[in-house]
Amino acid sequence: MSSRLTPDQIADLHQRASEAAENSYSPYSHFRVGAAVLLHPDEKQDGAIVAGTNVENASYRLTSCAEQAAIAAAVTLHGPAIRIRAVAVVNLNGAACMPCGACRQTILEFGGPETSVFYPSGSGEMVSTTLGALLPAGFRLEPQ
Ligand code: THU
Repeated sequence: MSSRLTPDQIADLHQRASEAAENSYSPYSHFRVGAAVLLHPDEKQDGAIVAGTNVENASYRLTSCAEQAAIAAAVTLHGPAIRIRAVAVVNLNGAACMPCGACRQTILEFGGPETSVFYPSGSGEMVSTTLGALLPAGFRLEPQ
Protein backbone atom coordinates (compact mmCIF):
# COMPACT_ATOMS: atom_id res chain seq x y z
CA MET A 1 0.00 0.00 0.00
CA SER A 2 2.66 2.52 0.99
CA SER A 3 5.44 1.44 -1.42
CA ARG A 4 7.25 4.21 -3.26
CA LEU A 5 5.80 5.53 -6.46
CA THR A 6 7.59 4.64 -9.67
CA PRO A 7 9.05 7.39 -11.88
CA ASP A 8 6.34 6.55 -14.45
CA GLN A 9 3.58 7.02 -11.87
CA ILE A 10 5.02 10.38 -10.83
CA ALA A 11 5.36 11.44 -14.46
CA ASP A 12 1.74 10.41 -15.16
CA LEU A 13 0.53 12.42 -12.17
CA HIS A 14 2.37 15.51 -13.39
CA GLN A 15 1.13 15.04 -16.92
CA ARG A 16 -2.49 14.84 -15.80
CA ALA A 17 -2.09 17.84 -13.49
CA SER A 18 -0.50 19.86 -16.30
CA GLU A 19 -3.31 18.98 -18.70
CA ALA A 20 -5.88 20.08 -16.12
CA ALA A 21 -4.05 23.37 -15.59
CA GLU A 22 -4.57 24.17 -19.27
CA ASN A 23 -8.30 24.44 -18.46
CA SER A 24 -7.85 26.72 -15.44
CA TYR A 25 -10.59 29.30 -14.96
CA SER A 26 -8.51 32.04 -13.35
CA PRO A 27 -9.50 35.41 -14.86
CA TYR A 28 -8.73 37.24 -11.60
CA SER A 29 -5.38 35.85 -10.47
CA HIS A 30 -4.21 34.47 -13.84
CA PHE A 31 -2.57 31.77 -11.70
CA ARG A 32 -3.22 28.54 -13.60
CA VAL A 33 -3.07 25.55 -11.30
CA GLY A 34 -3.61 21.86 -11.91
CA ALA A 35 -3.69 19.00 -9.45
CA ALA A 36 -3.91 15.24 -9.84
CA VAL A 37 -4.58 12.62 -7.21
CA LEU A 38 -3.47 8.99 -7.43
CA LEU A 39 -5.91 6.71 -5.64
CA HIS A 40 -5.21 3.53 -3.76
CA PRO A 41 -6.89 0.64 -5.60
CA ASP A 42 -10.29 -0.35 -4.20
CA GLU A 43 -13.43 -2.20 -5.31
CA LYS A 44 -14.33 0.49 -7.83
CA GLN A 45 -11.02 1.35 -9.47
CA ASP A 46 -7.49 0.07 -9.89
CA GLY A 47 -5.34 3.02 -8.85
CA ALA A 48 -6.98 5.76 -10.91
CA ILE A 49 -5.57 9.23 -11.44
CA VAL A 50 -8.10 12.08 -11.30
CA ALA A 51 -7.25 15.70 -12.07
CA GLY A 52 -8.75 19.11 -11.40
CA THR A 53 -8.04 22.77 -11.92
CA ASN A 54 -8.74 25.99 -10.06
CA VAL A 55 -12.08 27.64 -10.71
CA GLU A 56 -12.30 31.26 -9.60
CA ASN A 57 -15.33 33.44 -8.91
CA ALA A 58 -16.05 37.18 -9.00
CA SER A 59 -16.83 36.75 -5.31
CA TYR A 60 -13.21 35.82 -4.67
CA ARG A 61 -13.70 33.67 -1.59
CA LEU A 62 -15.82 31.22 -3.60
CA THR A 63 -12.78 30.12 -5.61
CA SER A 64 -12.08 26.39 -5.71
CA CYS A 65 -8.46 25.32 -5.64
CA ALA A 66 -7.21 22.72 -8.10
CA GLU A 67 -6.64 20.16 -5.34
CA GLN A 68 -10.21 20.54 -4.11
CA ALA A 69 -11.55 20.22 -7.65
CA ALA A 70 -9.50 17.04 -8.21
CA ILE A 71 -10.72 15.48 -4.98
CA ALA A 72 -14.36 16.39 -5.66
CA ALA A 73 -14.04 14.82 -9.11
CA ALA A 74 -12.41 11.69 -7.64
CA VAL A 75 -15.29 11.23 -5.20
CA THR A 76 -17.80 11.89 -7.97
CA LEU A 77 -16.20 9.33 -10.27
CA HIS A 78 -15.11 6.66 -7.80
CA GLY A 79 -17.21 7.07 -4.69
CA PRO A 80 -16.88 8.10 -1.06
CA ALA A 81 -14.50 5.29 -0.09
CA ILE A 82 -11.54 6.63 -2.11
CA ARG A 83 -8.19 6.91 -0.40
CA ILE A 84 -5.48 9.18 -1.80
CA ARG A 85 -2.00 7.76 -2.26
CA ALA A 86 -0.34 10.79 -3.84
CA VAL A 87 -1.08 14.33 -5.01
CA ALA A 88 0.78 16.41 -7.59
CA VAL A 89 0.28 20.16 -7.95
CA VAL A 90 1.57 22.19 -10.90
CA ASN A 91 1.04 25.64 -12.28
CA LEU A 92 1.66 27.17 -15.67
CA ASN A 93 3.13 30.35 -14.21
CA GLY A 94 6.53 28.96 -13.33
CA ALA A 95 5.90 29.80 -9.69
CA ALA A 96 6.19 27.93 -6.42
CA CYS A 97 2.89 26.24 -5.63
CA MET A 98 2.54 24.25 -2.46
CA PRO A 99 -0.99 23.27 -1.41
CA CYS A 100 -2.71 25.94 0.69
CA GLY A 101 -3.80 25.16 4.23
CA ALA A 102 -7.39 24.42 3.25
CA CYS A 103 -6.21 22.00 0.57
CA ARG A 104 -3.95 20.20 3.02
CA GLN A 105 -6.94 19.64 5.26
CA THR A 106 -9.00 18.49 2.26
CA ILE A 107 -6.29 15.99 1.28
CA LEU A 108 -6.19 14.72 4.88
CA GLU A 109 -9.87 13.79 4.67
CA PHE A 110 -8.97 11.09 2.12
CA GLY A 111 -5.31 10.55 2.97
CA GLY A 112 -2.96 10.38 5.91
CA PRO A 113 0.48 11.49 7.05
CA GLU A 114 2.08 9.08 4.57
CA THR A 115 0.29 10.54 1.52
CA SER A 116 2.89 11.75 -0.99
CA VAL A 117 2.69 15.37 -2.14
CA PHE A 118 4.64 16.80 -5.08
CA TYR A 119 4.76 20.51 -5.84
CA PRO A 120 7.03 22.97 -7.67
CA SER A 121 9.45 25.06 -5.66
CA GLY A 122 10.23 28.64 -6.63
CA SER A 123 13.33 27.51 -8.49
CA GLY A 124 11.24 25.17 -10.62
CA GLU A 125 12.37 21.97 -8.96
CA MET A 126 9.80 19.40 -7.95
CA VAL A 127 9.58 18.98 -4.19
CA SER A 128 8.59 15.55 -2.90
CA THR A 129 7.16 15.50 0.60
CA THR A 130 4.34 14.02 2.64
CA LEU A 131 1.09 15.35 3.98
CA GLY A 132 2.35 14.64 7.49
CA ALA A 133 5.21 17.09 6.93
CA LEU A 134 2.91 19.76 5.45
CA LEU A 135 0.10 19.34 7.98
CA PRO A 136 1.43 17.84 11.19
CA ALA A 137 -1.67 18.55 13.27
CA GLY A 138 -4.64 18.36 10.93
CA PHE A 139 -8.15 18.38 12.30
CA ARG A 140 -9.97 15.08 12.72
CA LEU A 141 -13.36 14.46 14.26
CA GLU A 142 -13.39 11.83 16.95
CA PRO A 143 -15.08 8.65 15.71
CA GLN A 144 -18.82 8.86 16.45
N1 THU B 1 -4.72 27.82 -5.83
C1 THU B 1 -4.88 26.49 -6.03
O1 THU B 1 -5.55 26.06 -6.98
N2 THU B 1 -4.30 25.63 -5.14
C2 THU B 1 -3.56 26.01 -4.06
O2 THU B 1 -3.17 25.18 -3.26
C3 THU B 1 -3.23 27.42 -3.86
C4 THU B 1 -3.95 28.39 -4.74
C5 THU B 1 -5.38 28.76 -6.75
C6 THU B 1 -6.53 29.51 -6.15
C7 THU B 1 -6.58 30.74 -7.00
O3 THU B 1 -7.38 30.49 -8.14
C8 THU B 1 -5.14 30.95 -7.44
O4 THU B 1 -4.46 29.73 -7.18
C9 THU B 1 -4.41 32.08 -6.73
O5 THU B 1 -4.51 31.94 -5.37
